Amino acid sequence: MTLKGTIAYLNGTFLPLEEAQVSILDRGFQFADGVYELIPVYAGWPFRLQAHLTRLERSLAEIGLGAPLVRRELAVRVAELIRRNATGDGKVYIQITRGAAERDHAFPSDTTATVVMTCAPAEPIPETWLSEGIAAITAEDIRWARCDIKSIALLPNVMLRQRAAESGALEGIWLHQAQVTEGAASNVFAVVAGEARTPPDGSRVLPGITRDVVLERADEEGLPVRSGPVTEEELKNAEEVWTTSSTKEVLPVTRLDGQPVGSGRPGPLFRRVREAFRARVASELAQAREVPS
Ligand code: PDD
Repeated sequence: MTLKGTIAYLNGTFLPLEEAQVSILDRGFQFADGVYELIPVYAGWPFRLQAHLTRLERSLAEIGLGAPLVRRELAVRVAELIRRNATGDGKVYIQITRGAAERDHAFPSDTTATVVMTCAPAEPIPETWLSEGIAAITAEDIRWARCDIKSIALLPNVMLRQRAAESGALEGIWLHQAQVTEGAASNVFAVVAGEARTPPDGSRVLPGITRDVVLERADEEGLPVRSGPVTEEELKNAEEVWTTSSTKEVLPVTRLDGQPVGSGRPGPLFRRVREAFRARVASELAQAREVPS
């Protein structure tokens, strides 16, 4: 349990995780009426913090919940939470719900939002995930049509991850009308005819920040990677498949629904992209150390 003994943040207060309590009337608990962010932390520094806060503000706006803290205040609290937990490599989780109110579907008029943050050490990426790749399964995308909002309503994702785990896989990949959307908790890239594609922004895909870094780096370094639709057929015959996420960075999928992907080994483009991603994290970290925010 990586969160045991950590300091959490709840509505303006830093306190031991075990003491951080929320009402059973909280609309996050009653309706999953809230949104979240997961920010990776490298050597005590939150990677792409501004991009995560921008996405959080967008999620809040899309569900009609005004930002309870201005961005600068939130950024200061994130930094303080990392400091109080003496986190090196880790992850900050932010959840904002519409707050506690008597149960009624329409928005309450006089409720204050609940703001929760936790900070946990990162779970190291096992070497075999990189050298051998991971297994994934596919499933019909049964989620709602606003997956661009980082909603805390994750039951379909939870169920898909459980199905994946039961079949010895690490991730599930959603298919909507024979098109790839994304993973249960990641974005997906498929290499077809030497070029990697990831489904473009839209209402069925979370605009992933790791994905954006990969697209940006590939563009900068002239790698054949772009955003574009991926069909189920293309996924199943792809030369390489990767997932991207804040917690697991870029991972090669080498088994899909029990079948090998391409050669069944992590591919050459994966290696270059992962290297470019890691190099970018390192250079932004070095820059952050030079110019403390
Ligand atoms: N999830 N798509 C979904 C459905 C996700 O849940 C995530 C990340 C991503 C990747 O986004 P990013 O690169 O910004 O992390 C895409 C986080 C890690 C989570 O729920 O734990």
